[in-house]
Amino acid sequence: MVLAPGGPELSRILLGLWRLGEWQLTPAQRLALVEQAVALGITSIDQADIYGGYTSEALFGEALALAPGLRQRLQIVSKCGIRLVHPNRPAHTIKHYDTGHAHLIASVEQSLNKLGTDYLDLLLIHRPDPLMEADEVAEAFGRLQRAGKVRYFGASNFTPAQFELLASRHALVTNQIELSVLHVPALDDGTLDQAQRLRCAPMIWSALAGGRLFGAADAQGLRVRAVLAQIAEVHAVTPAVIATAWVLRHPSRPLVLTGSGRIAAITEAVAATQLVLTREEWFAILAASTGGEVA
Ligand SMILES: NC(=O)c1ccc[n+]([C@@H]2O[C@H](COP(=O)([O-])OP(=O)(O)OC[C@H]3O[C@@H](n4cnc5c(N)ncnc54)[C@H](OP(=O)(O)O)[C@@H]3O)[C@@H](O)[C@H]2O)c1
Repeated sequence: MVLAPGGPELSRILLGLWRLGEWQLTPAQRLALVEQAVALGITSIDQADIYGGYTSEALFGEALALAPGLRQRLQIVSKCGIRLVHPNRPAHTIKHYDTGHAHLIASVEQSLNKLGTDYLDLLLIHRPDPLMEADEVAEAFGRLQRAGKVRYFGASNFTPAQFELLASRHALVTNQIELSVLHVPALDDGTLDQAQRLRCAPMIWSALAGGRLFGAADAQGLRVRAVLAQIAEVHAVTPAVIATAWVLRHPSRPLVLTGSGRIAAITEAVAATQLVLTREEWFAILAASTGGEVA
């Protein structure tokens, strides 16, 4: 689907590779996973410079190199702007954000190098940086775009005001944010209203609450699981499909990042794109999440 007016075309479900290093796959197995995802219609990949302690992009690049024709069939999203304290970055002494021109350019160069590609389809500023100078970021974006190194730009975890600020200096096509049946602030803090107003489809991370959905033993978790199980039975699908369909049902047309390395779970995310929940079902899940009916 087209992410925003004049924006890139991405698959509705993206393969999120935050946990790629944890899956302990050989390069050939990583490639097989991506090819299976593509066969399911997932052509878009979500990465970040910091994933896997600065290793995930290289692990993915290693797999891509085994199938040179594959890159053109994929859209690669990556992020930058966080500096982690990590053995792979010995110069970093405190975790902080850096949206300075030099860091953005250097970070993208490193991402391209590790991924083994000439361009990113989409680059996101990973977290809002209180020291962000919007003009400086826009200048770096312009330079990367003119050099053909990044095609489109966006933000992640930005408030509506932060998004508005950066969008006033350079075109943005998405805000990548958290939303799930266990985490609903984006529904009424203005984030999704802004996405709909601008027709910039949001990208959703932790749509299954990072796996907490399946184990959370608190009252909210128990309530939500009970309602998901009931609705799942009606539709003859799993609760994970219903939880993903709940996110997809929002009128801002969200895209969902699946975070699993199991093809069965990835298939469930794709299945959710075929299921449109009724208003009654959607609100029953919201009520289970918040602990009561809407006013
Ligand atoms: N922009 C940001 O700030 C940000 C933040 C976080 C994540 N992200 C992106 O979003 C992607 C997805 O995030 P996420 O990994 O938190 O998403 P998620 O899909 O909510 O969670 C994935 C986790 O849930 C587990 N899981 C999935 N289905 C399950 C099931 N049926 N039963 C039990 N466990 C299940 C997975 O384990 P298995 O692998 O065993 O299935 C995995 O550990 C990341 O890869 C990353 O690309 C972005």
